[in-house]
Amino acid sequence: MAFSSQNLLNLSISLFLLASLAKAQNCSDCFIQSRASYYPNSDEYGTNHGACGFGAFGATVNDGHVSTASDLYRDGVGCGACYQVRCTNSNYCSDNGVTVVVTDQGSGDNTDFILSERAFSKMAQTEDLAASLKSLGVVNIEYQRVSCNYPGKNITFKIDESSSYPSYLAFAIYYQQGQKDITAVQLCETQSFTCKLLQRDHGAVWTSTPPPSGPLAIRMLFSDGDEANDTWIVPVNNIPQDWNPGATYDSGVQVN
Ligand SMILES: *[C@@H]1O[C@H](CO)[C@@H](O)[C@H](O)[C@H]1NC(C)=O
Ligand SMILES: *[C@@H]1O[C@H](CO)[C@@H](O)[C@H](O)[C@H]1NC(C)=O
Ligand SMILES: *[C@@H]1O[C@H](CO)[C@@H](O)[C@H](O)[C@H]1NC(C)=O
Repeated sequence: MAFSSQNLLNLSISLFLLASLAKAQNCSDCFIQSRASYYPNSDEYGTNHGACGFGAFGATVNDGHVSTASDLYRDGVGCGACYQVRCTNSNYCSDNGVTVVVTDQGSGDNTDFILSERAFSKMAQTEDLAASLKSLGVVNIEYQRVSCNYPGKNITFKIDESSSYPSYLAFAIYYQQGQKDITAVQLCETQSFTCKLLQRDHGAVWTSTPPPSGPLAIRMLFSDGDEANDTWIVPVNNIPQDWNPGATYDSGVQVN
């Protein structure tokens, strides 16, 4: 058979498709190039005053492997999202890097992340190399969104200390596993089943003024960015009628 330009065209289309397929198959490992630095803290953990409103939880959760995000903060939607972050200098950096959870907002010199000192050090191959890495201050990294994992934990509601029973309820959502975002929250009366859509106050903190009375179910909308996949998660446990500022309540549910 003569080698026509049509054959050549078909061949190049096939090669192109094969190459795209190979690329797509690798796309669960598609890292985004960026930069990261760290903030010095006496104890190497995060801060108790992070923009997400997680309080002390935001400093120590995930073994203190926490981070500020700049654009990835997404007006608070990004609070609680987890990222695998690895630095790219093969003299210092380990292959896996570190998995951090976003608990604060901030940006530095073209950075997407400002890590806790502990998380920044974790990207190095050894403790000695961590010291060298830290001396660089800002490093090139690559990152990808990954699932958060909190073995043995359910999604937990922390009633913010700023709350005032019974007229003002503010709470943060702790220990959200998986890779989805919480994009809406409803507060439902468990007797009448009437629900009220809440406002995101800041970060991971949702508020209601005044909240409905009685035991309350906090429902959360989980989104992967495709509206058709949006799912309301209904807790097993309710917030008791006489909820307390500062208290934590286990939802009895977890997601993946
Ligand atoms: C892409 O996947 C192939 C086959 O699974 C693997 O051999 C290759 O190392 C991967 N490339 C990258 C850049 O991860
Ligand atoms: C939505 O759900 C379908 C079915 O589970 C899945 O294949 C698809 O990847 C999801 N969309 C996104 C954006 O994750
Ligand atoms: C999580 O929820 C399950 C089912 O509701 C419950 O059995 C379990 O005790 C909860 N875990 C914690 C740590 O409270």
